[in-house]
Amino acid sequence: MRLCLLLLLALCGADPTAAARSHSLRGSWSIRNANGSLELPGEVPGCVHMALFQRNLIQDPYYRFNDLNYRWISLDNWTYSKEFQIPFDISKWQKVHLIFESIDTVSEVLLNNVLIGKTNNMFRRYTFDITHVVKALNSIEVRFQSPVSYAAQQSRAHTLYQVPPNCPPSVQEGECHVNFIRKEQCSFSWDWGPAFPTLGIWEDVRIEAYNSCHLNYFTFSPIYDNSTQDWNLEIESSFDVVSSKPVSGQVIVEIPKLQTQQSYSVELQPGERIVKLFVKMNKVNDGTA
Ligand SMILES: *[C@@H]1O[C@H](CO)[C@@H](O)[C@H](O)[C@H]1NC(C)=O
Ligand SMILES: *[C@@H]1O[C@H](CO)[C@@H](O)[C@H](O)[C@H]1NC(C)=O
Ligand SMILES: *[C@@H]1O[C@H](CO)[C@@H](O)[C@H](O)[C@H]1NC(C)=O
Repeated sequence: MRLCLLLLLALCGADPTAAARSHSLRGSWSIRNANGSLELPGEVPGCVHMALFQRNLIQDPYYRFNDLNYRWISLDNWTYSKEFQIPFDISKWQKVHLIFESIDTVSEVLLNNVLIGKTNNMFRRYTFDITHVVKALNSIEVRFQSPVSYAAQQSRAHTLYQVPPNCPPSVQEGECHVNFIRKEQCSFSWDWGPAFPTLGIWEDVRIEAYNSCHLNYFTFSPIYDNSTQDWNLEIESSFDVVSSKPVSGQVIVEIPKLQTQQSYSVELQPGERIVKLFVKMNKVNDGTA
């Protein structure tokens, strides 16, 4: 059974001047290696291997022993850079974020030559506050470190106890210390696949600007109430209230298929706020369960 959950907010978007603006930085970036011997355009989302392949600088990586011929790509450090203009008046916004939906993997992010953050986990979203750094015309640089050299560094720094295995079986011709990096583990080789530790921006990256207040994210989990033998839903939402006064309004949770609708009045104090809503579920048998 599939459920559709609607979280309606009459909270942060009611006033038209309070709505958020967003600008994606997808598209063509410039990519260069550590010593500058290679400089080429590359697409975001994408990775260095893909950019080199699209420029015919490498052949099909999966052909014969090309995994070994192209090892140098992931042993090098690579920088993604781009200049961009924001297509709305950025000075009108109280809070501006740079958001990477996900990034592969170890990098330093610079906006207008200011270090705004670091990344080391391929599986999470990164949000950096750039309110005081962003301008109308910007330059961004994402300096990736070789995932192979990072994993080796982390392993050397971890002296307390051994974390086996150091390296994959030699027949795999893979890279070592994969358990020291939060990155797709098979990219350092697996028994069914070659080693291609990629580097790049592999999902959307965007600027988000907002006033008043903003819903950052929400998650929900079903909770079983043992005393009444009912399922309930706990919704956790995170708001950033940038206005100097409290913001109040209504949150309506609607699950049409379970004929469940509940509304909540909330008032949020300035700052980052977590709101937990508890939804009692109706028992409905629609015959598809
Ligand atoms: C620059 O880096 C590339 C790729 O790692 C390497 O093949 C080349 O020898 C380097 N050039 C110099 C001048 O160090
Ligand atoms: C890549 O960066 C790391 C960390 O800064 C450094 O130790 C390493 O020598 C660099 N590798 C190359 C090829 O420049
Ligand atoms: C849940 O309730 C049942 C009976 O009502 C009881 O046997 C069981 O121990 C309870 N489980 C938990 C985790 O409380």
